[in-house]
Amino acid sequence: MTDDTATDRLTELAKRRGFFFQSSEAYGGVSGFYVYGPEGATLKENLEDAWRDRFVRREGHMEIEAPNVMPEPVFEASGHLDGFDDMIVECPECGASHRADHIVEDNTDIEEAESIAIEDIEEIIAENDLVCPSCGTELAGEPVDDFNLMFETNIGPGSSSPGYLRPETAQGIFVEFPRLKEYARGQLPFGVAQIGAAYRNEISPRKGLVRLREFAQAELEHFVDPETDEPDLESVADVEVTLYSEARQDDADGEPVEMTVGEAVAEGVVGSDWVGYYLGVAQGWYERIGVDMDRFRFRQHRSGELAHYAADCWDAEAEIGGDWIEITGFAYRGDYDLSKHGEYADDDFTIFKQYDDPITVERATVDPDMSYLGPEFGGDAAAVGEALEDLAERDRSAFEGDEVTVAVAGEEYTVPVEKTGFSVDEITEAGEHVTPHVVEPSFGVDRLVYTVLAHSLTQDDAGESGADEDEDEERTVLTLPPELAPTTVAVFPLMDKDGLGERAGEIAERLRRAGFEVAEDASGSIGRRYRRQDEVGTPYCVTVDYDTLEGDTVTIRDRDTTAQTRVGVDDLPGVVADLRAGETTVGDL
Ligand code: GAP
Repeated sequence: MTDDTATDRLTELAKRRGFFFQSSEAYGGVSGFYVYGPEGATLKENLEDAWRDRFVRREGHMEIEAPNVMPEPVFEASGHLDGFDDMIVECPECGASHRADHIVEDNTDIEEAESIAIEDIEEIIAENDLVCPSCGTELAGEPVDDFNLMFETNIGPGSSSPGYLRPETAQGIFVEFPRLKEYARGQLPFGVAQIGAAYRNEISPRKGLVRLREFAQAELEHFVDPETDEPDLESVADVEVTLYSEARQDDADGEPVEMTVGEAVAEGVVGSDWVGYYLGVAQGWYERIGVDMDRFRFRQHRSGELAHYAADCWDAEAEIGGDWIEITGFAYRGDYDLSKHGEYADDDFTIFKQYDDPITVERATVDPDMSYLGPEFGGDAAAVGEALEDLAERDRSAFEGDEVTVAVAGEEYTVPVEKTGFSVDEITEAGEHVTPHVVEPSFGVDRLVYTVLAHSLTQDDAGESGADEDEDEERTVLTLPPELAPTTVAVFPLMDKDGLGERAGEIAERLRRAGFEVAEDASGSIGRRYRRQDEVGTPYCVTVDYDTLEGDTVTIRDRDTTAQTRVGVDDLPGVVADLRAGETTVGDL
């Protein structure tokens, strides 16, 4: 299959079989908003459960669910109001808006144009005679502007309280840090996860689930003390990863390299051992959910590409239809977010770190005489008092003379030292306040669903399947891992007569009670019914025939090998559980 045929086939299958399709089609459709159909919704839920299992439960983290709408001050503090922009260029002829960096990437050899300055993008557009993708009009000379990606709304009637749909679930965690740290008993490190919707008013949504305006993220914010906390690097040290570092990308002949996580951290290819740890954990998880690891790599962000909050970032990328798609970002956010919210909000975004033994320190403090500062400095008196306090902490020698001078809003104020209440005292401290650093693996759920579907979609040549199958029919198979498959087992009566249909219904019910997602299908040939289940990824099909009525056994058939065997009806729930857990195979039964 060519790249385009494979992607088209996936889109067609997704719509026909109910994985995903564009929303509001009855009203002409709206770009960037998709519906998960019955198969897709279950697949997405199973994928989220697999994520929860690995990144929350097994890591011992907590999970929360915060609102999608947050007030404007949150995004002033987080930097999204100022810095969460994409480059937009508008066609002078047809008026269509496009992402300027995408036009550059799609029509030149330049990759990651997002990291290029706006003025340079304008020049590249002009020099390369780039045109509007919608109507072909030349874009040379058209201004490229910043476009903020957040969806704005009003909280309550009127416009006095603007709010925004969160552009990342992360902010719902950071803002609640003062309370969340209590649930962690004030002890670092601890991690808080959230799976939920994020919203970005993308300029040009594209490629189905890849660039959406409403999408789901599974994010983990791991709060650590950078001085003392270390990840369990040993547990992932031997994991082999494919790394495409910034240096390799800058080198014209640079290719990604394969190395272990241990080597990558030791050699400084991955600068943070926390990021290294999560690359290792994630590598195993991607394999578990069916990402084709021959079409996968970790790519480091170039410096111009880094988000405003990130000190370093590696993306997990999967190849689909010839393009590399970012499916996860692993960012080292440092203390950026908690410091910012600490600065803007009225709460404490630090952790109190207790010393092993209390220490005695000399501390310089002031206790300004406000009966002097008030009449002398009027409305600036309080700010002068705060400036004196800052100065005492920074430079106590400034108080050695008779007068001390501080600057407030660019103006200097001189105060007699005797009116400052300056003193140096010995105090005993039990600990200190530290602002935790944040390590953030941030997974795009929809892109993962898309990747898993694209990488599991296979086309058998006619005649490759086993006995009892339609030999001359091409077989479309989704080789989804059983853990993710929307349906675990399908139950078919050989024919819908002589009580076979009723018996099949009883067996299906029994499997449902055992906790499996079960489908029933009694129409068409058995071969046709296998095909229908193969293309939605059902790993096991059970056929109820005349031997079932006599001997209480059924055949069970494996999707990938098409191997079949007979098992007792009483054993069936246990057998399916073992198969699903990978403890046995139909061939081995
Ligand atoms: N909190 C960090 C953060 O939001 P990001 O790299 O902007 O980082 C994380 O987003 C993940 O969310 C990406 O790796 C991608 O999988 C997914 N994502 C981002 N924008 C998306 C969009 N418009 N449509 C679908 N998924 C998107």
